[in-house]
Amino acid sequence: MRSLAVFVSGNGSNFEAIAEGCRSGAIANCEVVLCVCDKPGAKVLERAKRLGVKTFVFSPKDYASKADYEREIADVMDSLGVDLVCLAGYMRIVGEELLGRYEGKIVNIHPSLLPAFPGANAIREAFEYGVKVYGVTIHEVNATLDGGRILSQVAVPYEGDDFDELVAEIHKAEHKLYVETISKILA
Ligand code: GAR
Repeated sequence: MRSLAVFVSGNGSNFEAIAEGCRSGAIANCEVVLCVCDKPGAKVLERAKRLGVKTFVFSPKDYASKADYEREIADVMDSLGVDLVCLAGYMRIVGEELLGRYEGKIVNIHPSLLPAFPGANAIREAFEYGVKVYGVTIHEVNATLDGGRILSQVAVPYEGDDFDELVAEIHKAEHKLYVETISKILA
């Protein structure tokens, strides 16, 4: 049985898709053993509770440095035997402590066809730019923001003008691609 940790800052729809993918067998022999969240009160915590997933919730301001909280997170992940770390709307740059201890084992999902539109507001920026083909990227995580080797991508064509509808389309594509990609990585 493989063990995943999923890092989330807010909503957690990708977290839920991954947990559900493990439950249904779409990701075989795998379990989400930990949800790491840097926002006490985030919606993902309700999802984790409902799905029976253990959480590690922290406020970065309670620590003297990023290395301090990342050390604690890595210790918890070590104790649970985490094989793969999936960032899913975790709006922080991963630091040296975690990158060092989980080298080559951290992946991220980003709602654009990287290297276009990196950063925290990719969908809004692409929408305002007027692109006709949006997309989703899953990549390895390194010290560069939204950098790292690309593992998978899918295009999401959209020519409408309803931003909420676009976001929903992209999320749907994300949930499918993340489950498929995790499954491939673990195989
Ligand atoms: C997702 O669209 C994810 O790609 C994005 O945050 C959203 C989280 O949604 N991540 C980034 O923009 C990272 N730069 P969710 O909490 O419902 O899964």
